[in-house]
Amino acid sequence: MPDVSSRFDGLGVGFAPYLQPPGPDVVRLTVGEPGFETPRQIIDEAIRGLENGDTKYTRGAGSIELCNAVSEYLGFHHSIEVDSENIIVTPGAKQALLYSFMITTMPGDEAILLSPSWASYEPMLEFIGSVPVNVPVRRDNFHPDIKAIRSAITNKTKMILINSPCNPTGAVFTPNEIQEIVDIANEYDLWIVSDEIYSRMIWVDWPHVSPYNLSGGEERTIIVNGWSKSWAMTGMRLGFMAGPERAINAAKKCQANSASHVPTYIMNAAITALGCNDAVNSFNNEYKKRRQMMIDGLSEIPGLRIPEPEGAFYVFADVTGTGMSDIEFADGALKAGVQLIPASLISGGKGFVRISYAASEDMIIEGIARLKKWLL
Ligand SMILES: Cc1ncc(COP(=O)(O)O)c(C=O)c1O
Repeated sequence: MPDVSSRFDGLGVGFAPYLQPPGPDVVRLTVGEPGFETPRQIIDEAIRGLENGDTKYTRGAGSIELCNAVSEYLGFHHSIEVDSENIIVTPGAKQALLYSFMITTMPGDEAILLSPSWASYEPMLEFIGSVPVNVPVRRDNFHPDIKAIRSAITNKTKMILINSPCNPTGAVFTPNEIQEIVDIANEYDLWIVSDEIYSRMIWVDWPHVSPYNLSGGEERTIIVNGWSKSWAMTGMRLGFMAGPERAINAAKKCQANSASHVPTYIMNAAITALGCNDAVNSFNNEYKKRRQMMIDGLSEIPGLRIPEPEGAFYVFADVTGTGMSDIEFADGALKAGVQLIPASLISGGKGFVRISYAASEDMIIEGIARLKKWLL
């Protein structure tokens, strides 16, 4: 029997063991999936696409109308000016990240991750033969440790990944911190891959800033973003990447020879979504409420330290004060009827658990009540 290629040997699966659907009575605070229905007008547009016969091959990067809409969206919401020729719509932000890693690193090259970071970055780099180098963020507020980034750079470093707002920590890097990272990238001639999928979910009074917009950033930043989080469209698998022409031309080759393009009939639905500001704003109001419920509820449990999440929809709670490891805590929580994620499954996450407040309000209330019953 032939062996599977060795590139998958020992490859991490991140949070997967704790993302399995639990029993029916368990409150699930694990998944990074909005607990809202996809807005109706987006669904209607997708149905219209099917009925109109948008079921054939089309432009690889996405229809020109869709790429124009993404370009306008970036300009309007984030003051990012990118020509629509330098935008590709991809099957999820995940695929855009994979293309970005293939474009910026060769096997053996190093990519800096600010850890703890989203569970898929490390295995994705590893299966293309690149080397993730985990640089811990500051333990108090999960913001980047600029000195540590500088000292991690070697002659093999090719890329730094920024994910702000961050999954799993909820940190929103300040404009100054991002400029400092861009400065380092300039000094060492590195790429920046900027995963901005939570860019509309900011709960602090400093704005989301893309490294693309900062001095020296435009020529070396690949922006990755998508529809999954802000429009509750996880299953539609729609993401995009934008950046310098030479990077996007390479990404077009990746997409042409792998995915071809995203489903033709959802392209107009994606355009519709970009205009659905009311839905985004109303989801965000709910997230703010749920975030506060989490902070208030969890802070009453002795031994838990709850750094206030600055963006996205995760609480990254320090459980070391309970005397339990994060695995023991997550296993105990599951016995108490709450599923959450022990962060030692990813680099740099030891001692923390990730708790998602993308779940419904009822689930959050019940989840906190069960944790209190177990721990108080
Ligand atoms: C930081 C981060 N990047 C990318 C993704 C992937 O998003 P998509 O559903 O668009 O592939 C996720 C999803 O959880 C995420 O948290």
